[in-house]
Amino acid sequence: MLRRLHHDQPASFAFTPANLKWARGQMTKYPEGRQASAIIPLLFRAQEQEGWLTRAAIEYVADLLDMPRIRALEVATFYFMFQLSPVGSVAHIQICGTTTCMICGAEDLIAVCRELIAPNPHQVSADGRFSWEEVECLGACTNAPMAQIGKDNYEDLTPDVLRDLIGRFAAGEVPRPGPQNGRFGAEAKGGPTALTEGLEDRAEFNFSVQRALDLGDTIKRIDGTEVPLRTPWNPQAEIDETPHQPEPEPGHDHPIDSTGITTEEAPVKSAARMPDRGTAPGGTATAEPGQQVNEDGPQDEAK
Ligand code: FES
Repeated sequence: MLRRLHHDQPASFAFTPANLKWARGQMTKYPEGRQASAIIPLLFRAQEQEGWLTRAAIEYVADLLDMPRIRALEVATFYFMFQLSPVGSVAHIQICGTTTCMICGAEDLIAVCRELIAPNPHQVSADGRFSWEEVECLGACTNAPMAQIGKDNYEDLTPDVLRDLIGRFAAGEVPRPGPQNGRFGAEAKGGPTALTEGLEDRAEFNFSVQRALDLGDTIKRIDGTEVPLRTPWNPQAEIDETPHQPEPEPGHDHPIDSTGITTEEAPVKSAARMPDRGTAPGGTATAEPGQQVNEDGPQDEAK
């Protein structure tokens, strides 16, 4: 599925001071020179801050991690978890449309989204509160068909159940995630047929559902009230509030066209360049067309 940057982009992005401090702390999880490994959590934090992932945010994160911007763009455009266009202010609904869910009725769920939210995926509803898209398998195939809404899964859906869920979200509720047909987890629909000892003592909800209920952050965005993710191995990272100095405005002098593409030339940061013809780095002779190279340098091709 083709994933492009949105055609209408803000001019700039910067982490809030709190998020920048958090990001710098996360970067210390990785060995020196490997900070690019923090790309996923930092992009996600940027998305949580803005609601969706803008081009300016992707490039800001790339600069912060001192990695080529194209690498950050590759990550952001690959994973469905990153929203490349604005989403509904209340909830973005991701309907799994892969084989199991499709067989079990995903297309009927998509019809409900088209009717209640917007005719097209990635189109925000008229009131700005909801959006939807079809995504690939979300790993809950035994509870098909299902959808991810915010951070949690809603499983064993029917069109009527999804209709009811959307209505409750619209009314300000956060319905309980997990199976919606009375199943505890991924057991057979008629009830467990193995490992049946102790069932009467089990908790009311499975761990994932209970965790979601305890955290209460299904559709909640970062607002500073989260449990802080600390970096006790590096206290300095938690007090470093050095402001990030972004590079010059991305796309300067090259406005984004309707496909989200600009023409830019990245500054050369690496010595890994094609050598000038005739001499390789270190003074080693290189081959001309028609020559072969051995340890003594270029050789005329054998006649
Ligand atoms: S096919 Fe839908 S969760 Fe796997």
